[in-house]
Amino acid sequence: MHSNEIRKSFLNFFKNKNHQIVPSESVIADGEDKSLMFINAGMNPFKNIFLGLEQSPVKRVCNSQKCIRISGKHNDLEEVGLDTYHHTFFEMLGNWSFADYYKKEIILWSWELLTQVWKIDPERLFVSIYHDDDEAYYIWRDEVGVEEKRILKFGGKENFWEMAETGPCGPCSEIHYDKGDLGTQEETYQDKILGVNGKNERYIEIWNLVFIQYNRNESGDLSPLKNKFIDTGMGFERIAAVLQNKESNYETDIFAELIAKVESLSGKKYSDQKNQVAIRVIVDHIRMISFSIVDGEIPSNEGRGYVIRRVIRRAFRYGTTLGINKPFLHEIVKTLAEKMKDSYPSLLEQKERVSKIIFHEEQSFAITLEKGTQLLKNILAQKKQNNENKITGKEAFTLYDTYGFPLDLTKLILAESNFTVSEEDFQKELIRQRQQSSKQAKKTNYDVGSVAELLKELKINTEYLGEQQKETRAKCIAVIGEKNREKKFF
Ligand code: SER
Repeated sequence: MHSNEIRKSFLNFFKNKNHQIVPSESVIADGEDKSLMFINAGMNPFKNIFLGLEQSPVKRVCNSQKCIRISGKHNDLEEVGLDTYHHTFFEMLGNWSFADYYKKEIILWSWELLTQVWKIDPERLFVSIYHDDDEAYYIWRDEVGVEEKRILKFGGKENFWEMAETGPCGPCSEIHYDKGDLGTQEETYQDKILGVNGKNERYIEIWNLVFIQYNRNESGDLSPLKNKFIDTGMGFERIAAVLQNKESNYETDIFAELIAKVESLSGKKYSDQKNQVAIRVIVDHIRMISFSIVDGEIPSNEGRGYVIRRVIRRAFRYGTTLGINKPFLHEIVKTLAEKMKDSYPSLLEQKERVSKIIFHEEQSFAITLEKGTQLLKNILAQKKQNNENKITGKEAFTLYDTYGFPLDLTKLILAESNFTVSEEDFQKELIRQRQQSSKQAKKTNYDVGSVAELLKELKINTEYLGEQQKETRAKCIAVIGEKNREKKFF
């Protein structure tokens, strides 16, 4: 089944159960909600309904929500590319009951969709429940007929879902899929149980059914909500891999054109194992980058904007490991826009703008990356001679401050040579620098990406002065307003 068909089939299933299909919200979290930077789950936009602060005109909704898991409680950045099923950006297929149906209905429906509509072999499915959720246990065992040995109990880490440090939450029941070879494998159930929720790519969580009934408040306490809710989330790319019988999310049609594009830009093949991590990271990151820009954020040195900048730099540096030494990420935007146009047409409408912003980011980083990489190489060579395997926080800070290396990028490069850095010392340097800048109140920092974009719009030529000259005289030509979206020109 093509991924577009899978999305449609999920939504139609719930439409037939009287759900209203609603569009995906922006991936940029509501600025009022300090607990989140990016939308990390389909339920985020409904938070106020769960909390009783807003009423929904309908009791049942479903959608496919664009999500980003790269900050806060849900951060999958380090896994991306190294495995085949975590993403910084993904789509979440979900359905919600606002104080309407509850556990029994959703458990029965989830099994119906998976095993009857999509014809997944129940032999491949395991379910997990929160350890004291007897109600869910009996529904799975007695109403659905799942064998006892396939119903696994876990604690809060695995089976109590929370969107952030605060907010609506509750126990959950997950459905896991066994990708292994059932015919020849000799694993015992004990092995399988260890595989579920273990770091084993054979067992993949595909759907999470959350029974929302509490609010976690600022002091960390749980208070019961006035009503009970259902919140489910299915990883779209994961279910596509299952239904397309693929080992990896990256082998589904969702990523096919993106991988082909990176192959053509780099001249390197995905089938060659040594290129796989880099290509996976790039095709993952370009989705995160493009959709966060489309939805209204731009790379900068602060907060959410800095997350985007870090991801661009990380992807760009992976490009260099494929032998690409010039801006290239922006060239993938068009391919992505074409791929996603049916479900998310806004990227197609904004592809030139998005591409331009990414290009400027890449261009400015390309120069400093090369110089910073050379500096780091020299530092490492020196340390190796002294039998050391750690760089100082100050050295990492120079890479950050002068060459634009985000700390996570430095750490990634260091890890490739079995080096580490003291993050604590790095943070101390950062704090010292911030204190100094706040003393020099008249100095203002503008991020390179947005300044470059403005200059281009105004057709003003610039000259790159580089790291040799860190300060220069400037004339104020525009002010970028709230959330970097509005510009006022002088
Ligand atoms: N909120 C739950 C999750 O993200 C289910 O949608 O896993």
